Amino acid sequence: MIYKIVKYGAPVLEASAKRVTEFDAELKKLTEDMFESMYAAQGVGLAAPQIGMGLHLAVIDVTVGKNPEAKIVLANPEIIYVEGEQREEEGCLSLPGFRGNVLRPRFVTVRAQDVAGKSFEMRGEGLLARAFCHETDHLNGVLFIQHLGLLKRDLIKRKIRKLAKAGDW
Ligand code: NI
Repeated sequence: MIYKIVKYGAPVLEASAKRVTEFDAELKKLTEDMFESMYAAQGVGLAAPQIGMGLHLAVIDVTVGKNPEAKIVLANPEIIYVEGEQREEEGCLSLPGFRGNVLRPRFVTVRAQDVAGKSFEMRGEGLLARAFCHETDHLNGVLFIQHLGLLKRDLIKRKIRKLAKAGDW
């Protein structure tokens, strides 16, 4: 099932999400639907609040479906180690059409649980490190525009208000 992706302005995107406690068939189905929804939108990551669910759950695939082994489910993720810096353009499926340069660590180690509830740690570099940060931020109610300078952020917000007024958001 493909979920509609919630856009900036929806309160669920800026609320803090709840921990995943039930690692059951329902959770497995939800993660499969999240991958399907993410691929349909051509994203590399999707967090549960982006489909309207306030859960500490995200999916990532930096190959956008090209390599089935690149599928990562993060339940209750925490960033436990960062190293270096990278500044790259970043976007978000909840802010379609907007991008901005965001400073992130070059290497990131995340600790999370998989879809069965098993704990694991994973180190990512470059785009994967960026995705770990971006998705973990989502679960804490933080969007990438909060990492931009005030002027750039306000410009984006103004443009979105205009789009919303015209019924195009
Ligand atoms: Ni996002």
